[in-house]
Amino acid sequence: MKAILVQDDDARTLATVDMPEPTLASDQVLVTAHATAVNRADLLQRRGLYPPPPGESGVLGLEVAGAVAAVGSAVTEWRVGDRVCALLGSGGYAEAVAVPAGMLLRIPDALDFVQAAAIPEVFYTAFLNLFLEGGLVAGERVLIHAGGSGVGTAAIQLAREAGAEVYVTAGTDDKIARCLALGAHVGINYKNEDFAERITALTDKQGIDVALDCIGGSYLASHMKILRPKGRLVLIGLMGGLSAEINLAAMVQKRLRVIGSTLRSRSLDEKLAITRAFKERVLPLIESGVIRAVVDRTFPLSEADAAHAYVGANENFGKVVLIVRS
Ligand SMILES: NC(=O)c1ccc[n+]([C@@H]2O[C@H](COP(=O)([O-])OP(=O)(O)OC[C@H]3O[C@@H](n4cnc5c(N)ncnc54)[C@H](OP(=O)(O)O)[C@@H]3O)[C@@H](O)[C@H]2O)c1
Repeated sequence: MKAILVQDDDARTLATVDMPEPTLASDQVLVTAHATAVNRADLLQRRGLYPPPPGESGVLGLEVAGAVAAVGSAVTEWRVGDRVCALLGSGGYAEAVAVPAGMLLRIPDALDFVQAAAIPEVFYTAFLNLFLEGGLVAGERVLIHAGGSGVGTAAIQLAREAGAEVYVTAGTDDKIARCLALGAHVGINYKNEDFAERITALTDKQGIDVALDCIGGSYLASHMKILRPKGRLVLIGLMGGLSAEINLAAMVQKRLRVIGSTLRSRSLDEKLAITRAFKERVLPLIESGVIRAVVDRTFPLSEADAAHAYVGANENFGKVVLIVRS
């Protein structure tokens, strides 16, 4: 099969290589890929900053949508031809991938492979960190940074459906307008105004209950100011820096919680549990069309390099999907 591997040269070139198809364990399913999608993590992995967890292949790609091509001897719930999508530890930029049977999601009839490939990584991340880690409940205020990112566009919709008041930041007025159209209540262009000052003013100095934060260091002090008593800062990315000084007095007095979280490094058992919760609580909303994967554009897998450049330039609103087989 064809797969994309990062070359060990200065440019970290993406090369299409021939590889053997994965061998199947008894509890796995072989998925013939129709589409995969780009994540910010792929750009980091390419630069050598986000290595795959032990045991995972060096092939890029955290998600797949396709058809079941074969099932392991212990698999009873899937049949050849079933349309499925799944979160992966790696291996999505390839024509086929082996997936533990319990990680598969059945693609709702109304969705094509492109839409399905845009679901697993960002919707799992948003669901896990808003609700299972952040404990967001109806009536609370949540701040979602990078509202126009893949994760942001998923998180806005999930928080909206949960009955939260949704504040977002993004770097262009166009992204802000599209976040509001997805259900955010307030959008702040972080390039033009200070999000903490605006939120303080809008909330009559009360602040927010949960922040879903992929920025990190440069925003920490602001978050300590605007989190309400018992507020939760869920740190999922570090696009604004790796370190910062923390105001421990604010943490103690307001009984704040700072929660660091990654999806990829979790054990298979944890990922299976997240998948079960996701099937129960989120998949029905996708099936009914209440929540949708936001796809910005597609590229053929052979043009993954151009897709990375597009995402790296912050051009996308929602997901960039790679077509593996049309
Ligand atoms: N912990 C986890 O398990 C996990 C899983 C998935 C993703 N993540 C993290 O979640 C974030 C979003 O991922 P994604 O794949 O959805 O991203 P994406 O679609 O590539 O979007 C990222 C967006 O972030 C904004 N941005 C970039 N640098 C920024 C900066 N320094 N300050 C403020 N905004 C900045 C840009 O939008 P603007 O135009 O608005 O600036 C950019 O379009 C990433 O940090 C990623 O690493 C974490």
